[in-house]
Amino acid sequence: MNVKKYILGKPIETEAVVCEVETAAGSCPYFDMDEERMEIRCRLGKDDIVYGLGQQVRGINKRGWKYTSFCSDDPNHTENKVSLYGAHNFLVVDGEQKFGIFLDTPEKVAFDVGYTWGDVLAIQLFSWNAKCYIIEGESAYGIVKSFRKMIGQSYIPPKWAFGFGQSRWGYRNQQDIEEVLAGYEEHDFPLDMIYLDIDYMDQYMDFTVDGEKFPDFPKFVEKMKGKGIHLVPIIDAGVKMKEGYDVYEEGITEGYFCKDEEGKDFVGAVWPGRVHFPDMLNDRARRWFGEKYKVLLDQGIEGFWNDMNEPAIFYSEKHLGEVFERLEGYKGQNLDINSFFEMKGLVQGVSNYGEDYKGFYHNYRGERVCHEKVHNLYGYYMTRSAGEAFESLEPDKRILLFSRASYIGMHRYGGIWMGDNHSWWFHLLLNIKMLANLNMCGFLYTGADLGGFGSDATEDLLMRWYALGIFTPLMRNHSAAGTRRQETYQFADAEGFRGILRLRYMLLPYLYSEYMKAVLRDDLYARPLAFVYPEDERAKRVEDQLAIGESIMIAPVYEQNARGRYVYLPEEMKLYRMRSPEDMDEEILGKGDHYVRAEVNEVLVFVRKGHLVPVAKAGKRVADIDMGDLRCLGYVEEGNKGYELYDDDGYSRICSLEGHIHVINGNGEALRETDC
Ligand code: GLC
Repeated sequence: MNVKKYILGKPIETEAVVCEVETAAGSCPYFDMDEERMEIRCRLGKDDIVYGLGQQVRGINKRGWKYTSFCSDDPNHTENKVSLYGAHNFLVVDGEQKFGIFLDTPEKVAFDVGYTWGDVLAIQLFSWNAKCYIIEGESAYGIVKSFRKMIGQSYIPPKWAFGFGQSRWGYRNQQDIEEVLAGYEEHDFPLDMIYLDIDYMDQYMDFTVDGEKFPDFPKFVEKMKGKGIHLVPIIDAGVKMKEGYDVYEEGITEGYFCKDEEGKDFVGAVWPGRVHFPDMLNDRARRWFGEKYKVLLDQGIEGFWNDMNEPAIFYSEKHLGEVFERLEGYKGQNLDINSFFEMKGLVQGVSNYGEDYKGFYHNYRGERVCHEKVHNLYGYYMTRSAGEAFESLEPDKRILLFSRASYIGMHRYGGIWMGDNHSWWFHLLLNIKMLANLNMCGFLYTGADLGGFGSDATEDLLMRWYALGIFTPLMRNHSAAGTRRQETYQFADAEGFRGILRLRYMLLPYLYSEYMKAVLRDDLYARPLAFVYPEDERAKRVEDQLAIGESIMIAPVYEQNARGRYVYLPEEMKLYRMRSPEDMDEEILGKGDHYVRAEVNEVLVFVRKGHLVPVAKAGKRVADIDMGDLRCLGYVEEGNKGYELYDDDGYSRICSLEGHIHVINGNGEALRETDC
């Protein structure tokens, strides 16, 4: 692994990198580093491609826009944005020169990737403190794999978390949850998870369950488990200020909350109104918060999603006071072009207000550190608090965990979902692109809110989104309160949906196997075609198709009313047009461009020449899948080199492929054990 480290100033430790990297002597051959302007820059060749930045807007190739790493709660992922929930400061320049850069700092960083000057990559720091890792390699893919090795093994969820999950903000109580299951059962749709959004809690207090809505929660959890359904509750970052609430009281007594300038517990507000934010960067506080998950583990829960951990702040007590005061001045006035917009901006600007992030402090490694300096670590360390706690609370079991905010390093503790997207067709395309760059940054367990979180979904949008979603490790339909209901059973074409959902379960042996091999080999589960066909100039520019594992290429349809799409094949492939596990047709397509038909209920699966895809007989739960009864799709007759199948019990903690992998032939029969 050819990695060099340059230390700029006095970097704050993030624990993103897990291996020792030597500090380089002399200046960096790829970048000019200008300490005075706090800028790192390099030239880009005309055709250079720039990969990376994980969860960001725009393309797989990040060139032509500016991006800022500053974990942000923004529900409008439009292409004029510069920040979403994650801060993933890793880029790869792929041109005549090939190199990767990881700028390890928890502070804000701005990337100008050929935006101001087409041929310049400029990285702006906000203080001259960072570890700058330069990764060399012969290919962009090789550089990414070296980077992945540096940052440690990605998170492994339990196998059931590869099933399909239904979620919605607005399920109020036990009856609502039972109705959802009934809806799925009635139509014979597969399902493994139902998510509990904020309404399960008592007054939005973390680690509580509302006793009226769920009179006997452990019993309910057990009952659902008996039906093969896992309930997955949300946990928010802010802790409600309420006397008698143990988490609040303990946090106060032990000094575990973030402090304001005067050393008092900082007051922000989220769902429950006023909250304190646990100091996730303080080792003791982090341990304490992590142990709280036990309350729900003890009631039978086996998975969580961590939210609002950028952290999102509806308002801070202090700033809201200032705003109210200034609003007084507008009263009774004839508001004109200036004053009206000023007033409007004032009110709109109370949430996630920049100055608020400068107004509270952490106790990080014994030092008082302003939040702004470590902002991008908050969500990472919240998820780490849970992940570390699970290692001691449940040493023999994998717990499902994913987060909204993240930084590189968090990928070892949990996955992420792609945040509050919309029921917009272009978000389906954005997911494809994001998937590739997130994989590069170690976030393999990921997926978007299928159907879209905000706005109203349509039947065709949901179905097309499922055609992508059946390939994302995290497969969840989630939507916001107030939007059109979009559970699968709300739409007319039950047969079409059943077929597609069952395809996920049919493909599961392959998807799980590819996921686990990618994790345990520091590889990618979803790759841009450029990584598979680096010599193919056409493939390098493809942004709407992906390689999923070693055998499959996907090309989802992402336009309404389309009846197919153009697809570029870098080599001969076998196309399966799938409607259900029992209903698919196949044809061989040669290298080159093709217009491929795809009705709304059809999923296009391209199998690479000479490759195999092990599939099962589907099932309604992951637990039903019979791994002893597999067959293979793909080039069965030519598949004599076989397929390397990974499998395990689905819940034990795993750190190596050993004992879990064997080669199967085209009939799904074991050929031999393999080396890992
Ligand atoms: C945030 C989350 C969303 C959730 C909502 C209510 O917006 O991103 O997924 O449904 O909060 O908890």
